[in-house]
Amino acid sequence: MYGFVRQSDLAFGNSSEAKSFLVAGIVAGSQKNIFESVLQKPTIFKDRNAISPHFTPSTFPFREKQISEVSQILGLALQGQKPDNLFVYGKVGTGKTCIIKFVLQQCESFSLQSNGSAETVYVNCRTHNSKYKVLLSVLRKFFLEQNFMGFGSSFVLEKLLEYCQKNNKHIIIALDEIDQVKDLDELVYSLTRANDELRNCSVSIVGISNNVLFKERLDSRTKSALCEREMIFPPYNAKELRQILLERLPIAFKESVVEEAAVNLASAIAARESGDARTAVMLLLRAGELAEKNNSVKITDLDIIRAKRQVEEEIIFNMISTLPIDEQLVLFAISSLSKDKKGARRITGLDENVLFSGDVYDEYVRIASSLKENVVSARWYREYISQLETNGLIITTQSGKGIRGSTRLIKLAYDSEKIFEAMKKELFK
Ligand SMILES: Nc1ncnc2c1ncn2[C@@H]1O[C@H](COP(=O)(O)OP(=O)(O)O)[C@@H](O)[C@H]1O
Ligand SMILES: [Mg+2]
Repeated sequence: MYGFVRQSDLAFGNSSEAKSFLVAGIVAGSQKNIFESVLQKPTIFKDRNAISPHFTPSTFPFREKQISEVSQILGLALQGQKPDNLFVYGKVGTGKTCIIKFVLQQCESFSLQSNGSAETVYVNCRTHNSKYKVLLSVLRKFFLEQNFMGFGSSFVLEKLLEYCQKNNKHIIIALDEIDQVKDLDELVYSLTRANDELRNCSVSIVGISNNVLFKERLDSRTKSALCEREMIFPPYNAKELRQILLERLPIAFKESVVEEAAVNLASAIAARESGDARTAVMLLLRAGELAEKNNSVKITDLDIIRAKRQVEEEIIFNMISTLPIDEQLVLFAISSLSKDKKGARRITGLDENVLFSGDVYDEYVRIASSLKENVVSARWYREYISQLETNGLIITTQSGKGIRGSTRLIKLAYDSEKIFEAMKKELFK
């Protein structure tokens, strides 16, 4: 008995690697295979993937209106017409990604069944963060056998239009986390202008962003092209999150594993923090893992409390990595000043050290210049401070009169060391 070693795993033939792998298998075979105990351990999960934040469920409570509106807009492609470009925004965890993916998939399968003219492509711009990378990723769907890496950007665009024209397709390109595309103005311009030359076919864009202010920062031409139609996904309240979780439980967990108090607490925490279904789902996932680690057969509200810290950290680090560079630099300045307490001041009447907005701006200018990044004006800087506060990363308050007139006081919402280390990794990677 060779444990998990099968002949097919040894496809590398008589190489020395294969031999040592086989020998290791024989030696281990005399003992118990290390994976036996892993697989034999009882689990409280039925399908762990179904409670991961990347899972796309088949029903979406509280998003019927958004699904109907998006499908009305994109449905034109099935009728042989160009859909308007659409811009979808809302905070993280409000269902944008999974709902747009679901609608695209429905559109594509309807088109296939009815010999329709619609085709859809989903691109995650966090991975494909330039015009060139986005276009390559789109082409990969239409030319499975060919690799266009290395060809010029205009050639790649031409290829896409040629495909579109030859097959009379109305192509819908969903650009998720669109704010990550470095040369977005050029990408939007190229894709929208392309339609001038196309007959009986078209290219439309669905832009998706977690950043509620992003639209305001766009070049006015890009903004009017991209935002022909707009849709906001609002946060969920605790009752809605509870319902979303309850619908997920039977798919993800074995029967009666999750206590009601755990579901209630997870939805309450997620609603209070951000109205974010991803936080709610992750709280249950991590609580489930903790319960399992402790050989427990139930997930209780105590497991949710234990999971909260870990989930918070994962979410903060994830959020930091998706912030635009200017906001990252401002946050880095705040964490750097708070960490060393060098910029923090004590204000009478406040029992904590806070930062003055002006000091943070000076530190931001210093850091941005040293990294040779563009330095934004004080007006934009205030905009970024507001956005960081909306994302829950900082807390601000207006000082009373007397402190340099009236100034904004800033405090990090999380541990300064942790944010500082995470920012350093992100900015100097
Ligand atoms: N209305 C909903 N019904 C069921 N699950 C939802 C709903 N909205 C969000 N989710 C779940 O929340 C998680 C995050 O959703 P996602 O679409 O990634 O949010 P966003 O893209 O807005 O950040 C996913 O696991 C998804 O399945
Ligand atoms: Mg998303």
